[in-house]
Amino acid sequence: MTQEPTTAPDDAGDELAAATSDASLRRSEERSAAIEEQIARDPSGFRMLTGDRPTGNLHIGHYFGSLANRVRLQDAGVDTFVVIADFQVIADRDATGPIRERVLSLLADYLAVGLDPARTTIFTHSTIPALNELMLPFLALVSDSELYRNPTVKSEHEATAGRPMSGLLLTYPVHQAADILFCKANLVPVGKDQLPHLEQTRVIARRFDERFGRADKRRPVFPQAEALLSSGSLILGLDGTKMSKSKGNTIELGMSASETAKLIKRAVTDSDRHITYDPAGRPEVANLLRLTALCTGRAPEDIAEEIGDGGAGTVKRMLTEALNETFAPMRQRRAELAADPGYLLGVLADGNRRAGEVAEATLDEVRAAMGMRYA
Ligand code: TRP
Repeated sequence: MTQEPTTAPDDAGDELAAATSDASLRRSEERSAAIEEQIARDPSGFRMLTGDRPTGNLHIGHYFGSLANRVRLQDAGVDTFVVIADFQVIADRDATGPIRERVLSLLADYLAVGLDPARTTIFTHSTIPALNELMLPFLALVSDSELYRNPTVKSEHEATAGRPMSGLLLTYPVHQAADILFCKANLVPVGKDQLPHLEQTRVIARRFDERFGRADKRRPVFPQAEALLSSGSLILGLDGTKMSKSKGNTIELGMSASETAKLIKRAVTDSDRHITYDPAGRPEVANLLRLTALCTGRAPEDIAEEIGDGGAGTVKRMLTEALNETFAPMRQRRAELAADPGYLLGVLADGNRRAGEVAEATLDEVRAAMGMRYA
């Protein structure tokens, strides 16, 4: 019996590092602008996948940073898939926590902000066996060293403060590739820091088709997914540092108007009563102005000018009003949804059924391409 030569997985370390270089970032930005134009003309060629880990309640930073963008793309006619990444919760923690409540709460957030289950497929990892099974051939296509060098894996591991790296965290980019490729998504809205993850997905898709793909190389099994860079309107927390649940400096989507008012009252500002929009010199005040601007569609400079010598108190009053007005309908809807877990479970069952069918079909193509057909 002759042994076929074995090839070690290529090393994509350089490709991944290159994904974060300035030149490559500029290319991604240009590409994103071109894709936006194409979507405005004809969205029919696009399928987008994105998602979140169900680790806590979504806040206004998530809303302005990504949720509003998803809803915009959905409404523009892009076929949208959203993964509630429940298996990824245990990549960097020991227990699943109150996972069921968190999944339902995340789903309520999604629906409240305008994701429409009739047009958008919302599903959980743990319910889609065929998606997870794609991990096996994909794992064969990556080397341990390229995973260790993935900048996103590195930074996520650093954030766990000395916890040993789990195999699931190390292979996170491969699981994410399965999320994207099971439904052959060609569009992934990401922030800059996620570009290496996406590059790993592109590398896996290419290698699959080179090594295991169909005899007819003009018909690849998987598309090359492209990043749609989010504008990165970076919203800070109410203390002027990065907004994060663990710091208690967020305003959650589901908070009440009076909780919002109380939190904004405590927001850090400075003592200069004359209000100016100066992101470098006065980051805290600028952040509050920027949030007001996002809610009202006005320019932060104009809002500052209108406030003039009104001081931080006026900034806070305007922001409280603007936020509470913007989010009132979403909060109302969220409360109704949260009170109806039967409805939420129905939406999830429907999304899981649709995602499951898509995943089965893709896994079938994968097996066929690899010659694993025994019936
Ligand atoms: N990594 C994302 C997060 O941390 C969630 C996620 C899982 C995801 N799979 C994805 C995002 C695929 C985009 C594409 O919240």
